[in-house]
Parts: sequence; structure tokens; C-alpha cells
Amino acid sequence: MRQIWIPRSGPPEVLELREAPDPEPRAGELRIRVEAAGVNFADIMGRLGIYPDLPPLPVVVGYEAAGRVDAVGPEVDAGWQGRDVLVLTRFGGYSDVLCVPERQVVVRPEGMSAEQGAALPVNYLTAYQLVWVMGGLRPGETMLVHSAGGGVGIAAIQLAKHLGARVIGTASEGKHDFLKGLGVDHCIDYRREDFEVRVKELTRGAGVELILDAVGGDSFKKSYRALAATGRLGMFGMSAAATGKRKSWLALLKAAAATPWLSFTPLALMNANKGVFGVNLGHLWGEIERVRGWLDALVDLYREGVARPVVDRTFPFEAAAEAHHYIQDRKNVGKVLLAPGP
Ligand SMILES: NC(=O)c1ccc[n+]([C@@H]2O[C@H](COP(=O)([O-])OP(=O)(O)OC[C@H]3O[C@@H](n4cnc5c(N)ncnc54)[C@H](OP(=O)(O)O)[C@@H]3O)[C@@H](O)[C@H]2O)c1
Repeated sequence: MRQIWIPRSGPPEVLELREAPDPEPRAGELRIRVEAAGVNFADIMGRLGIYPDLPPLPVVVGYEAAGRVDAVGPEVDAGWQGRDVLVLTRFGGYSDVLCVPERQVVVRPEGMSAEQGAALPVNYLTAYQLVWVMGGLRPGETMLVHSAGGGVGIAAIQLAKHLGARVIGTASEGKHDFLKGLGVDHCIDYRREDFEVRVKELTRGAGVELILDAVGGDSFKKSYRALAATGRLGMFGMSAAATGKRKSWLALLKAAAATPWLSFTPLALMNANKGVFGVNLGHLWGEIERVRGWLDALVDLYREGVARPVVDRTFPFEAAAEAHHYIQDRKNVGKVLLAPGP
């Protein structure tokens, strides 16, 4: 098999393609020939050396993929053989052969390509947990989503619009037309405009009921202030700490210093009638049955035409570094994937 390794932290060019013997599925596992693997921002933070959950280096990152089952381990129904599937994987996803426990594998519905399959798990599970499970968004409410043109952002927009909510998105300007096409009501170019001020203008001073914020640092403070009474802030990342192509202690310190460690106190929350919550999908492996239920629900939403992954670009394994550059250069509109090729 071929895998993309992070041998040491550094710029995208540290990514290294290596070969190894194909793994054999163990009891309860399926082996998948991968056709597409998802790239997530967490992989970039892992490469930069600022992702707290990263296993020791060298490591193969990657949380999701899609392909075809080519072998099953003991205690697994032989009927899986040859099925087209999508999978969630706990690291190791940048690989053209994967062995994964059966409960992390879902049959792809008719018409879902391997690319769409690999684009669905992480982005849509995160959005599902943020918007529906914990954010409790209701029809007629307004949601503000940061990095609206990214993988999680687009998934959240689709789920919110399906509910009949109003959506405000922040994104680099070049993505605004596309986002409006997805039904986003107002786009904010956060690099030119102060999103807190714009949100207040757009809501006539009221603020919004749900905010999804993975930018972090100062953005958490401003998002909290942009909440309406009864509003909820979902915090799920810290992109602000990943400013360059190499680890920057200065960026880390700035993001940490700007984080409102002491602002959301019980009294402050009670008196403001606001809620804050956190999401980290990578810390739900202990609840995999529940997460699996959400994934099944999302595949049903795909069948209904609600969850429609937007794949921006697929890079060959050999060009994994370019894929990381593409995201860090803020060029992606939707999901970036890696494909092992023929
Ligand atoms: N907690 C969880 O379980 C979980 C799961 C998935 C993702 N996440 C987090 O959610 C965020 C989005 O993840 P994603 O995988 O969907 O990625 P993504 O949104 O596709 O990420 C790339 C986009 O983020 C925006 N961005 C904001 N700050 C950036 C920075 N410092 N460097 C580069 N781009 C930046 C850029 O778009 P614009 O300039 O257009 O805004 C860029 O195109 C990340 O922070 C990620 O860590 C968390």
C-alpha cells in the first residue's frame, strides 16, 4: 500500500509518500481499497505540530475515506465483499488501503461517488452535531457560520437551510457568489469588514441565535457579543493559530492571549441568557455507536438531496503538499480530497 506520512512538523513539503505491505483485516474489520480520502484542517494543524491529539511522529493522518471493500476479517459478514463504502478512521486515512472496524463503515447509497463519500463524514458529522444536536437551531432563527465556504461551513449551511433558518456566512470575498447560490442570505468578508458590527447591522442590533466558530482567539469574544438573547455559540476549532506554513509560536501565543478564558462565567451566561458549547468529533470515539447513528442519518439526508458534499478539488497522492497549500492559501470552496490514482 501507499501512505502519506508526516515524518516531522513543517511546511506542506514535509509530506512523504511511502510504500508498505498491504495490511490484513483483523477480527471485526473490513479492508478497503481507497479511491478518495478527505483532507481536514486538523491534518494541517497536525503537520504544523499544533494539533494536541496528534499521535507521536511519524504519523499518517486522515479521518475519512471512500472506496470498495476487498477483504473481510474474521467474524465479519462476507456480504461486505465488493461493497462501495465510506469510512471514518482514527488517523491513517491518507492511505490507499485501510483496515477499519465494521461499525465505522457505511455502504454508499446508489449514485454517491467515492469523492462525495470521502467528503461527507467529518464535515457533515461536525455540522450535524453543531447545528442540530447541540446548537438546537430552529426554523426562522439566524445562524452565523465562520469559514462558510469550507467543508464544515457548507455542510452547516445545507443543514440550516433545510430547517428553514436564515444564514449569515463569513468567507473570503471570492466565495460569496457561490455561497449565495447555496442560499446564504448575507456574506461578510471578514478580512475587510468587522463581522460583529455587520451582524448587528444585519439583525438590527438583535444578534443571532447560533454561531459556529472554529477561528478561535479573538473571534470567540466577538462571536459571543454577536449572540442574541437565548443565542448559542458553538466553538470547535482554532484556525487562528495556523497562520503560516510552519508552526508559529507568535501566532499560537496571540491566539491563546486573545482567547476569552474568563469571560463565559456562570453569572455572565445567566445574566446574558446566552449559551456556549464545544464540539470535538475526535473525542467521541468512546461514543461511536451514537456517531454512527448520526452518520446513518446523514446518508439518509444525502438520499433526500439535503446533504450534498461540494468537492472543490481532488489532488493525487503525489501532490498532497499542494492540497495542504491550497487550503492554507484559503482557496478551497468546499472539500479537498486526495486520490491514490490507478
Ligand atoms: N472540532 C471538530 O470536531 C472539528 C471537525 C472538523 C473541522 N473542525 C475545524 O473547523 C474548521 C474548518 O475545518 P474544515 O476542515 O472544514 O476546513 P475549511 O473550512 O475547508 O478550511 C479552510 C478555510 O478556512 C478559512 N480560514 C480561516 N482561518 C484560516 C487560517 N488561519 N488559515 C487558512 N484558512 C483559514 C479559509 O476560508 P475563508 O478565508 O474563506 O474563511 C479556508 O479556505 C477548522 O478550524 C477545523 O479545525 C473541527
